[in-house]
Amino acid sequence: MTVNENRFLADLHKLREFGASGIAKGVVRPAYSDADIAARRWLAGRMEEAGLRPHFDPVGNLFGMAPGTSLLMGSHSDSQPEGGWLDGALGVIAALEIARSSDRPISVVSFQDEEGRFGVTTGSAVWSGTLDLAKADTLTDHSGTSFAAARSSMSDMAQGFVDPARFSGFIEMHIEQGPTLDAEGDLIGVVTDIVGIRDMVISFEGQQNHAGTTPMHLRRDAFQALSLFNAEINDRFQNVVTPQTVWTIGHVDVHPNASSIVPGRVRFSMQWRDGDADRLRRMEEIIRGVAQEVADRVGMDLSFGPMLGLEPVAMDQRLRLALEAGAEQIAPNQWRRMPSGALHDATNVSRLMPVAMLFVPSINGISHDFAEDTSESDLVAGLNVLGQAVEQL
Ligand code: GLV
Ligand code: MN
Ligand code: MN
Repeated sequence: MTVNENRFLADLHKLREFGASGIAKGVVRPAYSDADIAARRWLAGRMEEAGLRPHFDPVGNLFGMAPGTSLLMGSHSDSQPEGGWLDGALGVIAALEIARSSDRPISVVSFQDEEGRFGVTTGSAVWSGTLDLAKADTLTDHSGTSFAAARSSMSDMAQGFVDPARFSGFIEMHIEQGPTLDAEGDLIGVVTDIVGIRDMVISFEGQQNHAGTTPMHLRRDAFQALSLFNAEINDRFQNVVTPQTVWTIGHVDVHPNASSIVPGRVRFSMQWRDGDADRLRRMEEIIRGVAQEVADRVGMDLSFGPMLGLEPVAMDQRLRLALEAGAEQIAPNQWRRMPSGALHDATNVSRLMPVAMLFVPSINGISHDFAEDTSESDLVAGLNVLGQAVEQL
């Protein structure tokens, strides 16, 4: 198989134009935004030109179907609210290039809402049966828009769900989004397993009041509750976590967010990740327990949103060995096996078929930021490893 490196890079740059931020190579292309839908329409056209049959499912996942049974390859083309040009996009365009270069049947997919505007890898979670569609429809983004309303914006294009039995396996190429390959000078990472994740929204509700007249001892300040909660979990986690465990409060909505008002309500995201499901469970106990203690101490009403999550999963050995053989051919002694600390659609797809993943370096380990980047020679090396692996399967 001879891949066309220039065509691959040109399509990757073309996809970046949909939602281009104007800062570095960043993109703003959240799931179901105008830019996301326009990008998906363009991708559908490119799939058709490659001889694949475009198929949008009821949640906006876009498949480019090869006839008969095929190997599925791809990733996602939605982005974070401030995202990079490669997160997801690389895996989709690499899959497209392999599909149009190979004489084997390769189907291509761009999953919808991998970045979790509504849930955690929402589109592939619904397709794989990890998340019930009726439950997904009730999920809301931070502005209160429901998944049901958002996906209806693509309903004019929607056909049914694709039968997973059409596919013999799934391979996803992605940027590492972390520092390891870049720091070690390696070109390729072959993924061994993907960590698990838990994600939920927590709310403290106290009493909104005047910031000048309300004595400190009478306040029920929601921001103070969050501040206590954060300090306390950081402390209590110390007995439970490993250096690989991570946790993040990434979205905070303080109400009404004004200098002269004691905030009456705070709603925030609490997310934690680890490769051990039991550790995720113990962290959940700490989170729920500490939130209740803080609420009792400072007089808050406490509520928890729906608990979302994905379990840790291992990659399929046969597919992984094919990627390792390709890596050894293209980048001898410059590749490594590694776990993925980022979440991927491959986690959900692993419920349906064998899956494997390939990483290329992220410059300075930066991702989920406009500055995310990878050298073009590394992107092409990854594409060639993918091509070699497909040849061998
Ligand atoms: C996916 O983008 C993740 O948050 O790991
Ligand atoms: Mn991604
Ligand atoms: Mn991402």
